[in-house]
Amino acid sequence: MTGIAVLGSTNMDLVAYVARAPGPGETVTGREFRTVPGGKGANQAVAAARAGGDVTMIGAVGDDAYGAVLRSNLEHSGVDIDLLHTVEGPSGTAHIVVDETGSNSIVVVPGANGTVTALGPGEMAAIAGADLLLLQLELPLSAVAEGARVAHAQGVRTILTPSPVQQLPGELLDCVDLLIPNEHEAVALTGAADPHTAARLLLGQVPAVVVTLGSRGCLYAARGGDPVLFPAPEVAAVDTTGAGDTFVGTLAVALGERRSVPESLAWASSAAALCVQRPGASTSMPYRAEIDAA
Ligand code: ATP
Ligand code: RIB
Repeated sequence: MTGIAVLGSTNMDLVAYVARAPGPGETVTGREFRTVPGGKGANQAVAAARAGGDVTMIGAVGDDAYGAVLRSNLEHSGVDIDLLHTVEGPSGTAHIVVDETGSNSIVVVPGANGTVTALGPGEMAAIAGADLLLLQLELPLSAVAEGARVAHAQGVRTILTPSPVQQLPGELLDCVDLLIPNEHEAVALTGAADPHTAARLLLGQVPAVVVTLGSRGCLYAARGGDPVLFPAPEVAAVDTTGAGDTFVGTLAVALGERRSVPESLAWASSAAALCVQRPGASTSMPYRAEIDAA
């Protein structure tokens, strides 16, 4: 089994489903509201565990009611939560609007996630003992960078999702093996609107890149080769929240099983396509048998 450590956020997603997202100063009436366990770190952990990984979640939730629900949701998906600490104060929340095309806009309030500024010996040992480390940017950058450093020093392969996007220090990128931005993040990181150009520029900083392109699939590029486009399955999306996280968590499991890059990307694309056909983040992530069947 692939050992995967996830150092990242755990949020409760507060999701309003609307016909059209409101503009500045505008009020619209929604048709439905749901609370769904989410957070980029927890989502990737759930996706990887359901895809067959042996997953440890490192992070924090608050001592509020959401914290207990978030812990039990991870546990029910088979994620080890011994290093998911409960701290005083509110859990992270994500305030999400999903429109009728399934697209979302999100405001994240870090809460407990913001307390994870450094790693203790237990966290470092979990990272050092894993096959892969999954990182995103919803925890303080100091912890993300420390996690990447520990992994790099121990030869643990590191995948970074640069979201919410921000400029990244060179010392962090030096420790990243695979960077997975969506197309907006790729533009923000490089200034290049064309994903091929963005991918080439990013290869100056990391050895391999996957730019995810929503319903258009993804673009894979590694040093020394030409970028390759992998199309996504054609499906009717109802809620794309967590699609990127499903893609990353599932891809990590496949790569950890030493499957080829094309096979791994195809498997991750099938998983993400299943995710977008269901509402919510962690609630929409498929199990291994479903991905194989798809
Ligand atoms: P999100 O923030 O909505 O979770 P993201 O912006 O991080 O997602 P996307 O590029 O939108 O990432 O999607 C990630 C992957 O999910 C895509 O590369 C694709 O494989 C799959 N995907 C997303 N949307 C669709 C869709 N409408 N149909 C099929 N697959 C999709
Ligand atoms: O990537 C989707 C996630 O982003 C949501 O679950 C939400 O919590 C935000 O962190």
